[in-house]
Amino acid sequence: LPPPLGENYLSEESKTLISSLLSYQDFVGKLCNYQGCWYFYNTLQGVINFQKNFKPQDTDIILASFPKSGTTWLKALTIALLERSKKNDRSCDHHPLESDNPHGLVPFLELSLYLQSSTPDLTNLSSSSPRVFSTHMPLHTLQVPLKDSLCKVVYVCRNLKDVLVSNWHFKCTTLKNTKVEGSFTLESMFDSFCSGVDFFGPFWENVLSYWRGSLEDPEHVLFMTYEDLKAEPRGQIKRLAEFLGCPFSEQEEGSGGVDKILELCSLRNLTSLEINKSGKTSNKVCNSSFFRKGEVGDWKNHLIPEMENKIDNIVEEKFKGSGLKF
Ligand code: A3P
Repeated sequence: LPPPLGENYLSEESKTLISSLLSYQDFVGKLCNYQGCWYFYNTLQGVINFQKNFKPQDTDIILASFPKSGTTWLKALTIALLERSKKNDRSCDHHPLESDNPHGLVPFLELSLYLQSSTPDLTNLSSSSPRVFSTHMPLHTLQVPLKDSLCKVVYVCRNLKDVLVSNWHFKCTTLKNTKVEGSFTLESMFDSFCSGVDFFGPFWENVLSYWRGSLEDPEHVLFMTYEDLKAEPRGQIKRLAEFLGCPFSEQEEGSGGVDKILELCSLRNLTSLEINKSGKTSNKVCNSSFFRKGEVGDWKNHLIPEMENKIDNIVEEKFKGSGLKF
């Protein structure tokens, strides 16, 4: 969802830039294409502020995804993994995931931190080394300020049909009682999704940017999938921990450390926490809206065969030769 800001947040420079970009009016707002990706106008300001001003630290971790691909889960898992090394320093017994939603703990660069300020205050994040950020930007856009930096990027990818259905449910929930409620349908979202003119789309460009990045630089870009996390959570969380430089010791594994983290970050546990039942993000989105079924293949309950075929054809065409299997 675009954060609730008007065009008056745009700098003069951005207004000039936008006037030169391809644009499109969808049911929520105006989108424009910057560096091959579609953004709502106000989000583009966040992207530009980030590209111009972000100063990476080599220990930074950036969690990336296309919206509705498992971002919340990846954030929770990363926080839980990093928290192990801090456990002894903590003065209170509360785990950060018990007092804040994963999106509050791992802010979005372009949708939160750099949205309203070109120089956001990152001191709170600096107190916890490494700093952990998140983004939906494609890798090439993210990489502009990351040049020569050693920071690590983790991408989570999800089956395109489940992403579409998850996004539709998310919009139905979050746009309820707003003036655009009722102005979109699953069919209209399907059309935007397939045309690629979609917030942070095209989906395939977003995925491929990270897939290629992970092949070129596996030490700094890790490519994960929601389906692998569901199918073999232990193996995948160990892979994530190793990539982040905080592998499980034999002792930790032996004492059930891996399972404890999986349980802490499970959909069941996170949805049972008060903060996720009643809290809201800084963009005023209910924390509860980030959790739904969390199943692989829920698209089968929503998409008709024609939709399925069209998406399968897109996947076939766009990912052909990439080595990436869906
Ligand atoms: P569904 O709508 O299919 O249930 P994102 O975090 O990128 O916004 O993606 C949201 C999707 O991830 C939703 O999928 C949501 O239910 C699922 N999800 C959120 N937290 C999860 C968790 N801890 N484990 C598994 N899936 C989770």
